[in-house]
Amino acid sequence: MSKKITKICCIGAGYVGGPTMAVIAQKCPDIKVTVVDINSRRIAAWNDEDVDKIPVYEPGLSEVVAEARGRNLFFSTEVDKAIDEAEMIFISVNTPTKTYGKGKGMAADLKYIELCARQIARVAKDDKIVVEKSTLPVRTAGALKSILQNTGNGVRFDILSNPEFLAEGTAVQDLLAPDRVLIGGDSEESIRALADVYANWVPEKNILTTNVWSSELSKLTANAFLAQRVSSINALSELCEKTGADVNEVARAIGTDSRIGPKFLKASVGFGGSCFQKDILNLVYIAKSYGLNEVADYWEQVVLMNDHQKHRFADNIITTLYNTVSGKKIAFLGWAFKKDTNDTRESAAIHVADYLLNEQAEIVVYDPKVTEEQIYADLDYLNTRDEKENRKLVTVVNDPYKAMKEAHAVAVLTEWDEFRAYDWQRVYDTMLKPSFVFDGRAVLDREQLTDMGFEVYTIGVGR
Ligand code: NAD
Ligand code: UGA
Repeated sequence: MSKKITKICCIGAGYVGGPTMAVIAQKCPDIKVTVVDINSRRIAAWNDEDVDKIPVYEPGLSEVVAEARGRNLFFSTEVDKAIDEAEMIFISVNTPTKTYGKGKGMAADLKYIELCARQIARVAKDDKIVVEKSTLPVRTAGALKSILQNTGNGVRFDILSNPEFLAEGTAVQDLLAPDRVLIGGDSEESIRALADVYANWVPEKNILTTNVWSSELSKLTANAFLAQRVSSINALSELCEKTGADVNEVARAIGTDSRIGPKFLKASVGFGGSCFQKDILNLVYIAKSYGLNEVADYWEQVVLMNDHQKHRFADNIITTLYNTVSGKKIAFLGWAFKKDTNDTRESAAIHVADYLLNEQAEIVVYDPKVTEEQIYADLDYLNTRDEKENRKLVTVVNDPYKAMKEAHAVAVLTEWDEFRAYDWQRVYDTMLKPSFVFDGRAVLDREQLTDMGFEVYTIGVGR
């Protein structure tokens, strides 16, 4: 018999904590789920009366939140209270790449995780199951256990690893029907307690249990494999452009081999998102720390290839525009790291923009879900030039036709569906001539645009 869970607390109300807990609450009406965060603005947004103003944009999410919020789903800044009440505590805080000290630029920064552990230890007055939901370096559960046991109030802590595999843009769908739920741990009873929560909607055969180290390492590995596919196809996209092949045709041809499979073979301007780069660098750092230099080099190449892809896209724009973009207006369609999300972390668009701004381009950005404030914050964060200069060179508009009017070139950085549906003849009529389109996502109809008179470059398509 496992313990029946009636109260869950989740520390971290971000892109993972928010949607994951909303779905647990929707599917388990008998469990009270409280999501806490130290960021009071974020919590206020999760509690916004207008459910469309929640801080994470995901198709279908506001409906799930609307159903469960106030019933058995709560968002709060009272972290201690939620820890005290809960039988099971998820840690879903950020684990970014370290920006200082040992492991700078590679290792995961675990300071937020450690703070959570110390807070749980201080507050907990009865036994707790602590669930690692954040993506963590393999063997972190050992560190957590040591902190909890040595600073706690003599209560028992069981630690489980339960990494999240959702992708942004499809988070709700992924949470409702996951390929698998992975639970790693030592205590059969605690594993069962967590499995029983998921069993409310996930078939038992999709709930995998492993030892805690396999679970932690599987999460990093899954992201490394996925990113490696993108870098593999992106590496080939360059060769296709040189040889007259079409990477989309190559992807289709190889993807029909069931051993390769059709998914995750879409050439792009480079993968972005908060996790692929961070998790691979983390894997590289772990391999190096065990002296496994060949293993480290192998995986690092996935990130190097990705950097190259972003640079060569920007470089191609400059070369094509007669080797100068200085003072030229370039319209960016999309800023998010993929469609159907408002998340911009590590988005290829940021790096392409930065590269072009170094060449004194004037960039006008349109993205259906990303705010002007976020776009400037992303550029300022790079620290390449001062904030005033970023605001002088970059304009953000909420009308795509305005963005493209009188532009020398259009660059597609995100694969938003609406880009296909634009009146491209109208765009052509208002652009400067020759009118260049650089399609970094291969989403536009190349033939149709070429017939209209555009000069079209599509990633991975040779002439
Ligand atoms: P996020 O930055 O959106 O959210 C993390 C939240 O934790 C922030 O709101 C922050 O204020 C809060 N926080 C930090 N320290 C805290 C503390 N001590 N107490 C209370 N709140 C605190 O991050 P995210 O995208 O949700 O990612 C969280 C974890 O999940 C990361 O480890 C990430 O690698 C992993 N992950 C992310 C995704 C994804 O698609 N974003 C998918 C799978 C796994
Ligand atoms: C990814 C994984 O897919 C999730 O399983 C994982 O949980 C998550 O990382 C995480 O740990 O954070 P996410 O980054 O949200 O999810 O989105 P993806 O769909 O994986 O896309 C990542 C990047 O790769 C995007 O920039 C996307 O445009 C790019 N991509 C993806 C391609 O360029 N081509 C493809 O074929 C697929």
